[in-house]
Amino acid sequence: MSAPMVETINLKKYFKTGSGMLHAVEDVNLKIEKGKTLGVVGESGCGKSTLGRTILRLQPATDGQVLYEGEDVLKYKKKDMKKLHLNMQMVFQDPFSSLDPRMSIHNLIAEPIEVCDIFKTKKEINEHVVRIMEMCGLPANLANLYPHELDGGFRQRVGLARAMAVSPKFIVCDEPVSALDVSIQAQILNLLMDLQDERQLSYMFITHDLCVVKHISNEIMVMYMGQTVEYAKTAELFAHPLHPYTQALLEAVPTPDLSRRNRERNTLKGEVSNPINPAPGCRFKPRCRFADKECDGECPLKEVSPGHLVACCKCG
Ligand SMILES: Nc1ncnc2c1ncn2[C@@H]1O[C@H](COP(=O)(O)OP(=O)(O)OP(=O)(O)O)[C@@H](O)[C@H]1O
Ligand SMILES: [Mg+2]
Repeated sequence: MSAPMVETINLKKYFKTGSGMLHAVEDVNLKIEKGKTLGVVGESGCGKSTLGRTILRLQPATDGQVLYEGEDVLKYKKKDMKKLHLNMQMVFQDPFSSLDPRMSIHNLIAEPIEVCDIFKTKKEINEHVVRIMEMCGLPANLANLYPHELDGGFRQRVGLARAMAVSPKFIVCDEPVSALDVSIQAQILNLLMDLQDERQLSYMFITHDLCVVKHISNEIMVMYMGQTVEYAKTAELFAHPLHPYTQALLEAVPTPDLSRRNRERNTLKGEVSNPINPAPGCRFKPRCRFADKECDGECPLKEVSPGHLVACCKCG
């Protein structure tokens, strides 16, 4: 079998802070096949964006590997970075802050094409911008406008167009629809899925919205305090969530099912704390209703059924 499009091996990202080393991403192992989407879910602060940014080398990794078609991009020298940008791109949550307000829509989309030296002439670049705008559902008459003149949905289409402009094969989508109205969210999600079908793109789709992730992902990775606590195919995860944290996240999704309304909910209490100098053992323990002494020991990810991994000594 050929190598996955993207794979991480024991990827770590630590931040030095005044109170110690913050373990934002801890030994993350993931695989994303060509044309597939991995959803990454978890509460605010669990390390989702840091994982995405570290994979794309927007910040240096602390340790581990990031393989793109089997090649470790963390070993790329400065001169190889263009290759990385041509293959791997990112779409951000807030298109407003990720777009330079002084640049027109045309120039914003032309910029990555120029940086990556894809075309030789101005004419070729301009023609490509027109094609990309059309592909991303941006009417041609928006080309000379500025980001503040567009609504949120069109701004996010510009963010996507900038990523798509260099024809990448892998895109990290970091909460790309969270800031948008629900009706616009569906349009952008459909556009992402259409582009994926047309171009066999691989996505890492970061979100805290489980309805969105169920709709768009082939597989899901659940993160808690920098670690993977569960990893499975989407249907399997929703049918048989094993980790108490995954169960609590799923319970928290609003349901129209009246018979479930009055049931006692396994809601999450407390918040994710910062993983500064974390002790060994389960990081979810302080919030877990099943926790006991056993949870102070190692709780590595283990495969409990084919392709379904969970890090909990109480399940599986
Ligand atoms: N540059 C930094 N310096 C120090 N700590 C950081 C830095 N960037 C992120 N962190 C910390 O790393 C942890 C993970 O943050 P991250 O932004 O990746 O979380 P997230 O899951 O994307 O959250 P959200 O859902 O709110 O976007 C947090 O504890 C955060 O405070
Ligand atoms: Mg984030």
